[in-house]
Order: sequence, then C-alpha cells, then structure tokens
Amino acid sequence: VVLGPGKILSCSFWFLLLFGAGGLVLFIHLQDLADMVPEEPSADHAVSPMPFPAFAWDRVSGTPGSREHELGPPRVTKRRRKLLKTSPVLRPASNSSAPPSSPPPSPPSLPGSNTAPPGRRRLSLAQEERRHLMQNVCARYRADGSRTVTPHHVSRVYVEDRHRLLYCEVPKAGCSNWKRVLMVLSGAAPLAGAIDHDAVHYGNHLKRLDSFDRAGIARRLRFYTKVLFVREPMERLVSAFRDKFESPNSYYHPVFGKPIISRYRANASKVALKTGSGVTFPEFIRYLLDVHRPVGMDIHWEPVSQLCSPCLLDYDFIGKFETIEEEADFVLRQIGAPRNLTFPTFKDRNPKAARTSAHMTEHYFSQLSTSDRQRAYDFYYMDYLMFNYSKPFQDLY
Ligand SMILES: *[C@@H]1O[C@H](CO)[C@@H](O)[C@H](O)[C@H]1NC(C)=O
Ligand SMILES: *[C@@H]1O[C@H](CO)[C@@H](O)[C@H](O)[C@H]1NC(C)=O
Ligand SMILES: *[C@@H]1O[C@H](CO)[C@@H](O)[C@H](O)[C@H]1NC(C)=O
Ligand SMILES: *[C@@H]1O[C@H](CO)[C@@H](O)[C@H](O)[C@H]1NC(C)=O
Repeated sequence: VVLGPGKILSCSFWFLLLFGAGGLVLFIHLQDLADMVPEEPSADHAVSPMPFPAFAWDRVSGTPGSREHELGPPRVTKRRRKLLKTSPVLRPASNSSAPPSSPPPSPPSLPGSNTAPPGRRRLSLAQEERRHLMQNVCARYRADGSRTVTPHHVSRVYVEDRHRLLYCEVPKAGCSNWKRVLMVLSGAAPLAGAIDHDAVHYGNHLKRLDSFDRAGIARRLRFYTKVLFVREPMERLVSAFRDKFESPNSYYHPVFGKPIISRYRANASKVALKTGSGVTFPEFIRYLLDVHRPVGMDIHWEPVSQLCSPCLLDYDFIGKFETIEEEADFVLRQIGAPRNLTFPTFKDRNPKAARTSAHMTEHYFSQLSTSDRQRAYDFYYMDYLMFNYSKPFQDLY
C-alpha cells in the first residue's frame, strides 16, 4: 500500500498536534505546582528594603482579592523573617485607612532589646518556643505527608484581607469569637458584641482560603499572618460532647446520635433510636475510637493536627484557648487592628451552662475504663505533642 503525500502530511500534522498539546498540558501542570509551593528566598543576600513584619507591609485599600499578583511585598531573608516574626513589634496607633506608602517611623525592636512591654516580650518568647516545638514534632514525625498545599488543607482557614490575617477555625477553642473579630476587622460589622451566634456561623460574611485560586492561596499563605488557637484536647472533646449531645440539637442528634445509640447501646428504647437524643459520654467515646464508625468524623472532635495541617502551613502564631484573651489581643495589636477592638468573651451556644473545666473533664473521663482513656489520649497524641499539653491523667503512659 502506498500512501499518497497528502496522507503522510496529514498524519504528521496530527502527530505534531498531539505532542504539542501534550507538552502544553505538562508545562501548565508544572507551572501550577511551582505556584503552589510557597518558596522561601534561599540566601541572606536577598535583603529586604523594609524591615517590618511580614504582615505589616502595605495596607491594601480597594477590593480585597483583586490584582492577585501585583500586591506581593518585597522579599525577606529567612533569618530576618524569623526575627521579625518573633520580635515584639508595636505599630503606631493603627489606622486601617492609612495610605500604603506610610511606613512606621522606627524599625521594630528585636527580641534582644528591652524596649517592649514585658507582657509582649513574654508572649513573643512563648511563641518562639511553641513554633520551635511544632517544627520539631513535625520534622520528627514527618507529620505532613506531602509538601504540596491543596485546597483541602486550607478549607478551615478564614481570610481577612484588610489586615492580612488567616485564622484556622478550631471549634470549641474560641472560634466563634474569632469569627466575630474577623467580621469586625473586615468591616462587615461595627461591633463584635452585636453579632449573634447564627450570624457568625451561617451569615456567610467570611471567606475561606479554599475559595481562592491557587495563586491566591499561595500568596496569602506566604504573606499573611497565620493564626491558630488550640485547646487542651480532652477539654475540647468534653466541651464538644456537652455542646452537641447534652442539649437539644436538630443536627447532631439525628445525624450522629441515632447511629451511635443504635450501634453501641444494648436494648435502646424506641424513643432513643428515633430521636438520637441522650447519647452518653462512654457511647460517644466508643464511636470516636471505633475504626468502623457508623458515621464519619466531625470538625468539633477532629484533632487539630488534622483540621489545620500545622505541619504544612507553618502558623505564625499558635495561641492557647486557656489564655485566649491576652494572646488574641496580642495578635490584634500585631496586625494593626483598631485599638478599641478587643477580643470578646462571649460564651456561645448554651450560655447558662458552665464552661468546661479541667475538673469537669476529669469527671466525664472517670466514666471510662483505663484502656479507653488511654486510647482517647492516643487518639489526640499528636495534638498533645505539638501543642505542649501534658498527659491528662496520671494512669496513662
Ligand atoms: C485615620 O486616618 C485618617 C486619614 O488618613 C484620619 O482622617 C482618621 O482620623 C484616622 N483615624 C484614626 C482612628 O486615627
Ligand atoms: C511546655 O510547657 C511547659 C510548662 O507546661 C513549659 O515549661 C515549657 O517551656 C513548654 N515547652 C515548650 C517547648 O513550649
Ligand atoms: C435487654 O432486655 C431484655 C428484656 O427486657 C433483658 O432480658 C436483657 O437482659 C437486656 N439486655 C441488656 C444487655 O441489658
Ligand atoms: C472603634 O472606634 C470607631 C470610631 O473611632 C467606631 O466606629 C467603632 O465602632 C469602635 N469599635 C469598637 C469595637 O468599639
């Protein structure tokens, strides 16, 4: 069979077209990956002309999220960024409408100098320790698996563009009040006190980081202040249990309560099976520790080490619920929040019930066998390690 020249030509044409397209796809893919990895400047000679903390550069007025690429601040060295992150910078009385070109008049005080108020200095040093511990634990356990940030990793992270703040939501660790603060910072509400619980959680006023494109995610991760607040894991767990199962709840009782009661309660009454109300703490723990759970996990009891991907996102500030007011106010001053904005102290959900305390937690866990307590501790072990909480019960190992 002899092919005419026209046929040969058309074959080569399709061949070229196919490979051309394949190459293009590969190229675009590589570009994407390069965008996603938040690269660090490699050497100390990449000197920044502006010695301000990474989050205090230019105040962006105008539509947040627009002009993704033009807004990147100048590069800083790794070493300097570390100093900046830990230095107790006091910015002049904040004014979010200040023009982006007016820098603070004096360079920040470095950790060695004694100009910062002692409270701030103490908090800065504590941050340095916490971040160091986190990095060590992450390195030791290679806890992040992959090095690539996907939208899934940042799906719990809320964005406030005006103050360049990222906050990872940890339920039962002050998240409602943090969301109120974010709404005030973004201008969506004038006063934190005026925002009720439903508006905070269902009002759709806040953007999540996974709602941006890859470049938008990468840029914000690189230049914004990343904040995480954690809580003693068992107290957080008991707080979640009390909140979701001990008071009426039209979502958690049917969705979680019903399968938990039908799987773990012998002789459950018809009413209990129908409503899903009245789950006991031991039943809840059996569900939590069951590798074949009848219903999935939930953010209220998911370990923070999974919820917020701390090994991947390298948070700038790791706060503790136990001292949230002081530490949150520290963050607010750092990011240049209005002076009159202080962290609110609302107790959401069941305002009349007492806050979950260490003593109360002990009482709930006393209903469990030693081996279940051990397994619950093991379940949250990474959180205990990463956030430097000590073993909750003496009989654990
Ligand atoms: C903020 O700055 C604007 C002008 O840039 C000024 O009119 C306003 O009074 C300032 N507000 C505060 C609280 O300093
Ligand atoms: C862990 O906590 C203890 C006190 O509870 C403290 O003395 C120690 O400095 C902390 N370690 C780190 C690395 O934060
Ligand atoms: C369940 O109920 C039956 C009859 O009421 C009783 O005989 C049985 O012992 C109960 N089982 C458990 C595990 O309570
Ligand atoms: C802070 O002050 C501004 C005016 O300077 C006011 O509009 C705002 O409501 C105040 N915020 C709080 C939380 O008091």
